[in-house]
Amino acid sequence: MTFPKKARLLLLLLFQIVIFTLFFYMYSHSVSPLPRKELSKQTHVLVLSSWRSGSSFVGQLFGQHPDVFYLMEPAWHVWMSFRDSTAQRLHMAVRDLIRSVFLCDMSVFDAYMKPGPRRQSSLFQWDDSRALCSPPACNAFPRNKIILQAQCKPLCFRQPFEVVDKACHSYSHVVLKEVRFFDLNSLYPLLTDPSLKLHIVHLVRDPRAVFRSRERTEGELMIDNHIVLGQSRYKLKREDQPYHIMQVICQSQLEIYKAIQSLPKALQQRYLLMRYEDLARDPLTQTSRMYEFAGLKFFPHLQTWVHNITRGKGMGQHAFHTNARNALNVSHAWRWTLPFEKVSRLQKVCGDTMNLLGYRQVSSKQEQRNLSLDLLSTWTMFEQNYS
Ligand SMILES: *[C@@H]1O[C@H](CO)[C@@H](O)[C@H](O)[C@H]1NC(C)=O
Ligand SMILES: *[C@@H]1O[C@H](CO)[C@@H](O)[C@H](O)[C@H]1NC(C)=O
Ligand SMILES: *[C@@H]1O[C@H](CO)[C@@H](O)[C@H](O)[C@H]1NC(C)=O
Repeated sequence: MTFPKKARLLLLLLFQIVIFTLFFYMYSHSVSPLPRKELSKQTHVLVLSSWRSGSSFVGQLFGQHPDVFYLMEPAWHVWMSFRDSTAQRLHMAVRDLIRSVFLCDMSVFDAYMKPGPRRQSSLFQWDDSRALCSPPACNAFPRNKIILQAQCKPLCFRQPFEVVDKACHSYSHVVLKEVRFFDLNSLYPLLTDPSLKLHIVHLVRDPRAVFRSRERTEGELMIDNHIVLGQSRYKLKREDQPYHIMQVICQSQLEIYKAIQSLPKALQQRYLLMRYEDLARDPLTQTSRMYEFAGLKFFPHLQTWVHNITRGKGMGQHAFHTNARNALNVSHAWRWTLPFEKVSRLQKVCGDTMNLLGYRQVSSKQEQRNLSLDLLSTWTMFEQNYS
């Protein structure tokens, strides 16, 4: 029995429609990863700094913002996996990790974490991230409140690792803080990467204050120091090592700053230099400057919070600890605690960087101890940025 010609044609047509519909359905669903190739809708901010330079505080300023997904020191995982390596050798691994995390692809941590089930608490300092303490990562707190580490930790540490990706995707800004970058060359591809909108906040601090603070936290920095020193650790005497490390840090700050100056203007606008001391003197103005740079609103509850933590009205457990005058006092502490011989030696290894960043050198013990001498210069670059 054969179908009449018309019916056969109709059947064929119907068949085609079904195929077409199926194809269309599959295309529109299975090819959904396509939009990933589009320019990112997220803004990426790298807080680039060094140890003991106030970067945890700046990290908190970003991390508490309700539009920000923040992670502190993701590259810690890279460094701790290769403790006998050197900063130089680990640069590219760090760079690639940062890129993946900016794109909210947390599978990159596979390479640096123990096999087996993971929680979000497997991430170094995860509870420093307000985003991992609020939805969609954890329902214990609302997104738009200031959340403290100590409150978050017991309530959110059981969340599975998958929530980290999910949380990251739900924010307009991804902010990472890193102290483990020593040159801009390794970062350059990220600045020009079309899938990223990278902004760099370069946070620096008076090397003499950094040095004093490092002396007081020597134990904590042992593994990092080992990596920064690299092969030099076999050649240098123990007492010379801290100066060598400071030299590496100062040199890298100088080079990063200079490398930025040689970039095209459009890229230069993605860089903001921030001095810790300016932040300590005027936290509200400087915070507003950083938010504006990143395209973030300075909401009233954040203004109150910044005011609170820098004036010592509680909430300062792991940020400035102290009120603004104390923060200033802390940033001056090296002036009466460091012996002038050490200061003098530091000024030799970090002199160029200090001149560039506007930290005046002292030429005697008297000058060092004389607190009426302001050693922070308002340098033309900063005046331009302020105006
Ligand atoms: C600021 O401090 C006041 C007084 O201690 C407190 O009531 C308020 O909740 C704090 N606000 C923020 C946002 O930290
Ligand atoms: C800063 O702290 C030092 C040592 O604790 C103290 O001697 C000094 O008086 C303080 N200065 C100010 C301005 O608070
Ligand atoms: C401290 O510095 C100020 C400002 O330069 C100066 O006037 C003063 O004489 C200095 N004091 C001492 C004890 O050197």
